Amino acid sequence: MQQGFVARRADATPCAAALIESLRDIGYSLETALSDIVDNSITAGTHRIHILTETYSEEPFIAIADDGIGMTEDELVAAMRPGSRNPLDTREKTDLGRFGLGLKSASFSQCRRLTVVTRTNGITSAAVWDLDDVARRNEWSVQLLDDIKAIRCADQLGKTGTLVLWEKLDRLTGGYKLNVAKRAETINQRLAETERHLRLVFHRFLEAPKPIRILLNGRQLRPLDPFARKNSATIADPEEIISLPQGDVEIQSFTIPHHKQMSTPDWDDLGGPEGHLKSQGFYVYRGERLILHGTWFGLCRQSELTKLSRVRIDISNSMDSDWKIDVKKCSAQLPPTVRDRLKKVIERIQEGSKRTYRKRGQKLVDHNRLPLWHRIQSDGHIRYRPNIEHPIFAGYAEELPEHLRRGFFNCISLVGASLPVETLHADMAAVAEDVVPDHVDEDTLTQAVQATLSVLLAAKKELKDIIALMRDVDPFRTAWSDTQLIIDAIIEANRAK
Ligand SMILES: Nc1ncnc2c1ncn2[C@@H]1O[C@H](COP(=O)(O)OP(=O)(O)OP(=O)(O)O)[C@@H](O)[C@H]1O
Ligand SMILES: [Mg+2]
Repeated sequence: MQQGFVARRADATPCAAALIESLRDIGYSLETALSDIVDNSITAGTHRIHILTETYSEEPFIAIADDGIGMTEDELVAAMRPGSRNPLDTREKTDLGRFGLGLKSASFSQCRRLTVVTRTNGITSAAVWDLDDVARRNEWSVQLLDDIKAIRCADQLGKTGTLVLWEKLDRLTGGYKLNVAKRAETINQRLAETERHLRLVFHRFLEAPKPIRILLNGRQLRPLDPFARKNSATIADPEEIISLPQGDVEIQSFTIPHHKQMSTPDWDDLGGPEGHLKSQGFYVYRGERLILHGTWFGLCRQSELTKLSRVRIDISNSMDSDWKIDVKKCSAQLPPTVRDRLKKVIERIQEGSKRTYRKRGQKLVDHNRLPLWHRIQSDGHIRYRPNIEHPIFAGYAEELPEHLRRGFFNCISLVGASLPVETLHADMAAVAEDVVPDHVDEDTLTQAVQATLSVLLAAKKELKDIIALMRDVDPFRTAWSDTQLIIDAIIEANRAK
């Protein structure tokens, strides 16, 4: 198409007061905003980041101080400019930035006053964006301060480094503008949620051989490895590499341990507030920093079957446009070439978990294993039916007078037919590991052990085989130590006879 001939030009400089306010609302949360500031510190080669907050105060603040390379005054002024770097620029491999916007957009999303104090080569510079000041003047002019003594937390700066200070925290008040205690409670709550996010997003920096330390009000954050690699029960598949024109994409699948193979606090920490079902999926890292997690990119559903599967994907900042990385560094889209490869990875994971479940299910239908329930798969449906031939049922029925037997078997069949499948399904979909077999009381267990044992002994099975068999099925499996005591007592009594 022919380009139109430019007749005249008119000034269309953005209106400072309006645009700077709009920058506030591009969808940051406290955790994504803080992570964006931490990104800058890591890019500046920091070893230690202090996040300091004062929440119980008339004028609460959040400060992030690093010991990175710092900036000269010219660099600081450039850094304060929205759009300080062209997103098309090629960046160093270790640079976590892209848009030249994060410092400003992340800060304004949480506060109306951003102060940056920075020191390099023995010279300290300070600059302020105050949105109320911009609103009054309606111009893109940043304030420069010579005296930094009055700036809160300025004493945190060492020989070199940068302090980012957020004041006028109007977005974090939770609606409590005058109630200091309630406001503090709101901010503290948000900070507590943010802590886990930082531990996860930056875990590879926190656990590196030369780790970066992040301290939140003096407390050092522990790395949170989503693949629980330190747990020996984690299964790591071999790493795969997809070579693309913009660089290599590294992929590695992990199966994290079953909840019984780790402590409850570790399991809960790993699942987080969203839980394990929602935490399965791809974990995309850009320059070792976690961008996004807990999604299969629409390639499959988050199901119980794949709940323990987590796949690490490593990309570099040279692929930002292919992956459509956003300013907040918390979303990405799959390039089509990668999509096809990941489909195969998912198929493999699904096949693997199906096999594991089939093996577990096998125990239920294996006749040698004395199941109390049968799993019947036919006509595209799966049904569970109590096994009325089980010695516990059959043995008891034997002792009943003839006319009561039919009624007894009918009752058992009714229990099977009225299994609350929908409720079970809903509960399993929420937190599957909370659904557990009911406790059996001693009398019930004793009767079950007696019945099972006498049938198996009568069938001339070896005691050690009987024990191995019973140990594997409920109700004995879940109450094994009591079962063992009852078996010992029965054997002892038999011997005495
Ligand atoms: N803590 C810091 N130490 C040293 N320099 C910094 C620090 N924070 C920001 N800068 C400088 O300010 C510039 C602007 O930061 P900003 O976060 O706005 O953009 P970016 O990091 O380049 O890209 P992105 O928008 O993707 O984060 C950075 O490129 C960097 O040069
Ligand atoms: Mg940045």
